[in-house]
Amino acid sequence: MTEPDDLFDPRHFLGVRRSFDQAETLPPWCYTSPRFYQREKERIFHRYWNCIGHQSRVPEPGSYITLDYADVPLIVVRGKDMQVRAFINSCTHRGSIILEGEGQCNVMKCPYHAWAFSLEGELVGTPLFEESDSFRKAGHGLSRIRLEVWCGLMWINLDPDAPDLLSYLGDLPERVAPWRTDEMVCVARREFPVRSNWKFYAENWSDGYHVPFVHQTTLNRKRVSKRDFHDPAIHLGNYLMHYTYFNGSRGTPEGQRKFPELDLPPELKIGTFFPYVHANAMIGFAVDMVSCTEIHPEGPGNCRLFTTTMVPKSTTQTPDFEEVLGLYLKYADKVRDEDVIAAERQQRGAESAFNRPGCFTPQDRLVHDHDLWILDRVVGNAAP
Ligand code: FES
Ligand SMILES: [Fe+2]
Repeated sequence: MTEPDDLFDPRHFLGVRRSFDQAETLPPWCYTSPRFYQREKERIFHRYWNCIGHQSRVPEPGSYITLDYADVPLIVVRGKDMQVRAFINSCTHRGSIILEGEGQCNVMKCPYHAWAFSLEGELVGTPLFEESDSFRKAGHGLSRIRLEVWCGLMWINLDPDAPDLLSYLGDLPERVAPWRTDEMVCVARREFPVRSNWKFYAENWSDGYHVPFVHQTTLNRKRVSKRDFHDPAIHLGNYLMHYTYFNGSRGTPEGQRKFPELDLPPELKIGTFFPYVHANAMIGFAVDMVSCTEIHPEGPGNCRLFTTTMVPKSTTQTPDFEEVLGLYLKYADKVRDEDVIAAERQQRGAESAFNRPGCFTPQDRLVHDHDLWILDRVVGNAAP
């Protein structure tokens, strides 16, 4: 199915907009089209809140990281006041990238003509060039973008007019408060490139249908007694959730050592709570840990995953912690690789000119909700 010239005409999506039992999946070109991807950047990734990892990525005053998020170069830096700030990584002189990689600095200095910016983004040094009536440093600070911390995780938003993060999340913070994630420490951050459109991996997060097949020898070994799926009348906010019921932890295979269980009320110790915060954060609140997978879009046919693993400080003080953490990460790699292979296979399928829209089942109906959220923004005019 080739991409039509008028790809944003709502009539191309009438089939997707039916109720899930009658609905079609997104047309395959939504996963391959540079124009569709461009719109997703403008209307989703540049407008809504995006997770960029645990705040311990910038532990000290002057600690910085750089990243390209949805094709926007960014600097995240901790100030002397311990506040974390984010800036566009482009010099206000003639546009050069200022910092690369990550590290520690007192000022952020541009490599081109050595203009220097304070950790708060003010222009503080312009070598060989004095202030004058026509030039004042004060008007040439770095462009700051919004950054908030929730669950110990940093979230950025490129839209100055967007609602704050807590309004965006709705009732989710209250639902996950018992995990006390703010007090947790990050024990691993890992990166995985994926050769698929970001939506294929993201959709899979809320798909209960693939588990017995894709995870036949991993997750499926643990009996799931039931899944609760998102109900927009009950779950209020820009997220989709499912709760999977099983005994104990799925962090390592059965019979292997586990982290100590968290101090949670009994009704939250019967499985894992899996919210997916539109459009880049997939979080697993388990009985013994919290993990977050960020998805960073990198063009129509590529994305990159970053995973953050969080546990309470007390867990890191258990005698065999490093070893058990190794078991968790190894198992998580295996499960994730299974999902990545599935997403990459879907991508190859979608790239064929002969692919047609598919359909949904009750077990993957949240994929439909996921895709409607995107359509409402890419083709419709949904407000935040
Ligand atoms: S471009 Fe940065 S100092 Fe000239
Ligand atoms: Fe999966």
